[in-house]
Amino acid sequence: MRFIVLTLFPNMFEAFVNTSIIKRTIEKDICSIEVIDIRKFTKDKHNRVDFPPFGGGRGMILSCQPLAAAIDFSIEKLKSKSKKDVDIIYLSPRGKVLNYNLCKDIASSDKNYILICGHYEGIDERIIEEYNVTEISIGDYVLTGGELASQVLLDSVIRLLPGALTEGSLDEESHTNNLLEYPQYTKPVEFRGRKVPDILLSGHHKKISEYRKNESIRITKKYRPDFFNNK
Ligand code: ADE
Repeated sequence: MRFIVLTLFPNMFEAFVNTSIIKRTIEKDICSIEVIDIRKFTKDKHNRVDFPPFGGGRGMILSCQPLAAAIDFSIEKLKSKSKKDVDIIYLSPRGKVLNYNLCKDIASSDKNYILICGHYEGIDERIIEEYNVTEISIGDYVLTGGELASQVLLDSVIRLLPGALTEGSLDEESHTNNLLEYPQYTKPVEFRGRKVPDILLSGHHKKISEYRKNESIRITKKYRPDFFNNK
């Protein structure tokens, strides 16, 4: 799966693409992430990319010209490398909220993606219409820009791509089967007087599995009772 990220702050992605699992998935050619600076596409003589909103209001709006040029360039680049469809996502607090199912839909989509990171007060609405852009939010709060949001999206999608994690790692994690993950313990058996539950040391796989299921239900009821209401 190929991703092109359009941003005014490409340096925010340096650590992200060069660390841990994301770095490895890129090295293994499971995905590619190209980060492109929107400012390089501006035709403004002062190198500007943003202007005040028509109608008044605070902040600046990322204007059509540099963004459209960056998108056109990215579509062409992706199409020259693969026949897959290209979807364009704009990370925005007004978008559809990202969750595990949406991550799975993207990971299994057999498409390539352009991710637009806004800054300032947003992007010109005509870009969203012109390119049939899907808006995705990572939660009901407002960030100063879409860079962290796009990294959240990339991270949560890429780990679901086949081969990204060792087989079986996804089977019992939080959000699979609408349950949160059960508590985990490792060495030592006792820490500051707190012992690992005996059942986990028993070697009795069936009982361990029942215990973990019950713990998952307990924790889900505590933190996300809405998971049960939705059924
Ligand atoms: N940009 C600013 N806030 C955001 C959010 N909550 N999700 C995605 N992109 C954003």
